Amino acid sequence: MSTSFTPRIFSGIQPSGGLTLGNYLGALKRFVQKQDEGIETIYCLVDLHAITVWQDPERLRHQTREAAAGFIAAGIDPKRSILFNQSQVPGHAQLAWIFNCVARMGWMGRMTQWKDKTAGKNAEAESLGLFAYPSLMAADILLYHATHVPVGEDQKQHLELTRDIAIKFNHDYKVDFFPITEPVIEGAATRVMSLRDGSKKMSKSDPSDQSRINLTDDADTIAQKFRKARTDAEPLPETLAGLKDRPEARNLVNIYAALADMSPEAVLADYAGKGFGAFKPALADLAVAKLSPITAEMSRLMADPAEIDRTLGEGADRADAIAQPILARAMEITGMIRSRR
Ligand code: TYM
Repeated sequence: MSTSFTPRIFSGIQPSGGLTLGNYLGALKRFVQKQDEGIETIYCLVDLHAITVWQDPERLRHQTREAAAGFIAAGIDPKRSILFNQSQVPGHAQLAWIFNCVARMGWMGRMTQWKDKTAGKNAEAESLGLFAYPSLMAADILLYHATHVPVGEDQKQHLELTRDIAIKFNHDYKVDFFPITEPVIEGAATRVMSLRDGSKKMSKSDPSDQSRINLTDDADTIAQKFRKARTDAEPLPETLAGLKDRPEARNLVNIYAALADMSPEAVLADYAGKGFGAFKPALADLAVAKLSPITAEMSRLMADPAEIDRTLGEGADRADAIAQPILARAMEITGMIRSRR
C-alpha cells in the first residue's frame, strides 16, 4: 500500500440545522487546531448530504451561511483553509456516482446511522440519497486525496467504509490511486451527549432544544441549559473510574475539559468532592466565556451574507482546482473517454 500521499485534511459538517456544542467540540474546534498546525486543510459544508432528508430551501441557504459564519468565527481562516459548500464543486457528485458502482448495497445497509435513521420507520420511503449517503462522503474525502479526517466518534463507521471503497477501487482497477484515509478522533469530547439524557448524542435534530447548546444561544440560555442539565446527586469523584455508570456527570466533565483544553483527569483534580451546585455554574461560566465571542462574531458576519457567499465561492474555486485532475484521472482509470477538454 502506498504511503506517498502528502498529508491533507478534509472534513465536513451538514448545514441541516444550527451548529451545536457537539459539532464545535467534536469537530470545529479541532479543525481550527489542524489549520494552525500548518497542514493543508479543506472544510466543507455538505449541502448535498443535507438534502438526503427534506430541507426547506430558504432555511438550507440560511443555515449554510450561518455554518460558514460559525467556521470563520471559531477561527477558520478562509485564506489558510479552504472553506466551501459541497454542491459548488461538481466532482463530489461525479465521484460519488463512481463509488456507488464500487460500493455494495450490503455495505450501506450495515451502516448504523442508516439503521438508526430508519429504525421504526418504513425504510422503503426514505430517499435513495440517504441510503447512498456514505458513498458521497467517501467521494468528499477521496476527491482531494485527503489522508486525515478529523471527526467525532459517530462518523467512525463511515470512515471505515471510505477506506473499504478506496481499497476496492484500487483493487478492482489494479491501481494505487486512492489513499487509505486515517480517521482522527481525538480529545475529551469526541462524543458530546445530550444534556437531558446521557445515553443519547447531543444532536441538532433532537426535538428538545434543552438537550443541546447551540452556537447561536445567548449567555443566559447557555447558563440556564447547564443549570437544568440532568445529573445525579453524588459529588464529583477523584478519578475517571469513579464516573463509570454516571454518563451525565462524565459528559459534563468532558465538556469542561474540552472547553478548557484540559484533560478530564485534571478537571476532576480541581473539582473532586464538589457537587453539581458548584460545578454547573463554573461550567456555565466557562462555556459562556468560550462561546460568546464566537456567537457575537457569527452574528456580525451574518449581517453581510453576500460577503459569506463570496468567501464560499473563492473556496469552491480553490477546491475545484485540486479536485479536477483527481476526478479526471479516476474517470480515465474507469475507462471513460475524455472527449472534452
Ligand atoms: P454532522 O454534520 O452530523 O456533524 C459534523 C461533525 O460534528 C461531529 N459531531 C459530534 N462530535 C461530538 N459530539 C457530538 N454530539 C457530535 N455531533 C456531531 C461529527 O462527528 C462530525 O465530525 N456525515 C457527516 C458529514 C460529512 C463528512 C464528510 C465528515 C460529510 N462528508 C467527509 C467528514 C468527512 C455528518 O453528518 O456530520
